[in-house]
Amino acid sequence: SSSSPRHFLSISNLTPTELTTLVNNATTHKNSQLPPTWPLRNALSNKTIALLFSKLSTRTRVSTESAVVAMGGHPMFLGKNDIQLGVNESLYDTSVVISSMVNGIVARVGPHSDIANLAKDSSVPVINALCDTYHPMQIIADFATLTQTFSTPAEKLKGLKIAWVGDANNVLFDMCIGARKLGIDMAVATPEGYGMPDKIKREIDAAGPGSLFETNSPEEAVKGANVIVTDTWISMGQEDEKTKRLEAFKGYQVTEELARRGRAAEDWRFMHCLPRHPEEVSDEVFYGKRSLVFPEAQNRLWSAIATLEAFVANKGVVKKTEQ
Ligand code: CP
Ligand code: NVA
Repeated sequence: SSSSPRHFLSISNLTPTELTTLVNNATTHKNSQLPPTWPLRNALSNKTIALLFSKLSTRTRVSTESAVVAMGGHPMFLGKNDIQLGVNESLYDTSVVISSMVNGIVARVGPHSDIANLAKDSSVPVINALCDTYHPMQIIADFATLTQTFSTPAEKLKGLKIAWVGDANNVLFDMCIGARKLGIDMAVATPEGYGMPDKIKREIDAAGPGSLFETNSPEEAVKGANVIVTDTWISMGQEDEKTKRLEAFKGYQVTEELARRGRAAEDWRFMHCLPRHPEEVSDEVFYGKRSLVFPEAQNRLWSAIATLEAFVANKGVVKKTEQ
């Protein structure tokens, strides 16, 4: 095809203004609650979006399928046992063929190189639904959750302090990149040997000025934090390391006691992309009054809508939604 489409593989693909626009659009759509006059009700009509998932998913699949339907399109779920990819057929052939018949691809893969290669050879926009390095639609939802919680537009999240306690993974990397673009301070506590790779740190630095405080002490990281975030200690694909990881992350559970000891802000809030396991956060925090986890999960729907609007309906033009 003539010109290659714009893909959304990481938060780093967005300018700061595009990031605030996507986050604010997600909230605009949430507030509109899809009335019959909703402007996007036909935004994907007669369009098919392939959901190419090589890993399990609850939120990403449900939110994206629902988003496509809300926008009048057809979501086509292709799990890892449904298509020839990986068994009988190469990624290149798969990408060329699928993209010749659909209008967009939302893909969940293992290595980042897989989604990068998929995008390289696709004639339609590719949206990353999680790879081992990034999870951009999650971060749009997370920042939208914060704007809703603090009743402020995304451009005013500047100065907020987020502490991440746990594993340095895909969700954290895109969150740090996004934080740089919004002026949010990040403090990250990981066990020795589980910190952020240098390559990612250079990418975070390239995303904009700002601070990334790294420590092995959860107490130190949560000091003054307005938001404490964690994720599973064992990401998909790391199941073999379970025993080793559970040992290495002892003492990193997010608890009321940790926040008190580390002197987090009095009214600190808790976020987690889910799925959650009990080891990384206590029930008291996860199900308690500080927890944003369920609105955060529901915001995945609005994040998917804002993302599909920009990257598929508007062909890669990220602009304030017309409402
Ligand atoms: N947070 C998230 O991406 O969840 P799923 O793996 O259920 O999609
Ligand atoms: N870090 C987790 C996120 C799941 C949504 C994983 O990659 O498995």
